[in-house]
Amino acid sequence: MKISTVATTPFAGQKPGTSGLRKKVKVFSQPGFLENFVQSIFDNLVGQQGQTLVLGGDGRFFNDVAIQVILRMAAAAGFGRVLVGQNGILSTPAASAVIRKHRAFGGIVLSASHNPGGPDGDFGIKYNLANGGPANETFTEAVYKRSQSIAEYRIAEADDIDLGCLGETSIGGMVVNVIDPVSDYLELLESLFDFERITALLARPDFRMRFDAMHAVTGPYARTILEGRLGAPAGTVVNGTPLPDFGGGHPDPNPVYAADLVAALADPASGLSFGAASDGDGDRNMIVGRGFIVSPSDSLAVIAANYRLVPAYAAGISGVARSMPTSCAVDRVAAELGVPAYETPTGWKFFGSLLDAGKVTFCGEESAGTGSWHVREKDGLWAVLYWLNILARRDESVEQIVREHWRHFGRNVYSRHDYEAIDTEKAEALMNGLRQKLPTLAGQTYEGMRIEAADDFCYTDPIDGSQSEKQGIRLLLEGGSRVVFRLSGTGTEGATLRVYLERYVADPAEHDVPVKTALAPLVRLAVSVADIPGITGRNAPDVIS
Ligand code: G1P
Ligand code: ZN
Repeated sequence: MKISTVATTPFAGQKPGTSGLRKKVKVFSQPGFLENFVQSIFDNLVGQQGQTLVLGGDGRFFNDVAIQVILRMAAAAGFGRVLVGQNGILSTPAASAVIRKHRAFGGIVLSASHNPGGPDGDFGIKYNLANGGPANETFTEAVYKRSQSIAEYRIAEADDIDLGCLGETSIGGMVVNVIDPVSDYLELLESLFDFERITALLARPDFRMRFDAMHAVTGPYARTILEGRLGAPAGTVVNGTPLPDFGGGHPDPNPVYAADLVAALADPASGLSFGAASDGDGDRNMIVGRGFIVSPSDSLAVIAANYRLVPAYAAGISGVARSMPTSCAVDRVAAELGVPAYETPTGWKFFGSLLDAGKVTFCGEESAGTGSWHVREKDGLWAVLYWLNILARRDESVEQIVREHWRHFGRNVYSRHDYEAIDTEKAEALMNGLRQKLPTLAGQTYEGMRIEAADDFCYTDPIDGSQSEKQGIRLLLEGGSRVVFRLSGTGTEGATLRVYLERYVADPAEHDVPVKTALAPLVRLAVSVADIPGITGRNAPDVIS
């Protein structure tokens, strides 16, 4: 095998964010940009010689080109084998499952998650460790540091591999094994859920579901699992063919971008009783009942509260974890079950050490991510099957299940307001302004609500002791209400300010008050304390979820 050593110079801006490095395709396709970043990853590995790497992506534009480059660079880096999804496809949770099952050294996932794709869209790359989870901040910092001093990369000279055919080929001494992207993942899900009962539920004439794959990676997974293995009628999966530009859509399963699904579930004529959707790379989920959207924070709480109904978890759960901005609904479940509830910074990478140490069974984020110890990523189809398993065991609708949950635990009314593509300097100024105000905020009353405490969230990992600072400004109000401010770490244009709003409502008589009404005083408080209009010039958020 001939290996070329190519001289290169650093690119600014190769700093991984909340979930790997995300940039416009135009940035990623500059000569050397991808190669520099991949080499910076490989330069931080120790002992990969002869080991297995897992490789795949969500099929977005540039996936095919990047995969061939990474295969040749993996050969040059001394990997012994690469397991690559057929046609370059692996959903994020499936990649995690494959890494774990095959005891791989690590994996590279090509995805920008829910960000739009296509030649003018986004591309992304993420390195996962042997536990199947995203590399921690120590590793991603080291990769960034390397990328800023890189002088050369190494790549094997070889022809493109045909990724359409399953089976083994090679690049020099490295075996390239093209694997079915679904089978290992399906086998794992089969070991967790009651497939017999779910099959029976899907066969009932009074139960109809729709799964919207949003033209993204979960199409083949959902077809094989829901329509194939579980016998749901053909047509249950819609938008099931992955497209490099996601059909021009925005593959984010929320009420704004999956509006068609929400509308279908709201229309009694559709006959649908259960709806679900997943994002670009298959790790997010949305759960919709008849005319009723389940908020992701509530979904996590319902999942935890119903663990006894799901075979793999029925024996007991060790704890739960949620990202700091996620609503505290799951904490109330944990308190009742007598298990710990952990609060971590935003991003799945913070759950890995807790899962590895067996401290938590379920974890989740308000941004439509839920998962468990079965992999080290959030998992969209897992959440859908979990809900199907609950529905198969409880003869109630999605809405009834959630309302019953609220009656028992109280309702954490919740919403997130996003101000997108703000000038980066203005966004930084807003956050710094809040930080400066922090010492004076506690004890003040706004909109009739007293701020009990205010801080900039700092996390110490209870397992490895690593610290992560400046993870979001929290205003903790009396009665369990909260307002959280943070800047997105996944955007590729300017800055996105996220404002998270939460109010605890115990009284069932108030559970029907519309979210907007219930949170209006908190919105006014957030806008005025942070002076959002004054600093950013914005009078309303772009997306409310
Ligand atoms: C967003 C979500 C976060 C999630 C991440 C990756 O990150 O808010 O919960 O882990 O995408 O899916 P953010 O853009 O807020 O940094
Ligand atoms: Zn995703």
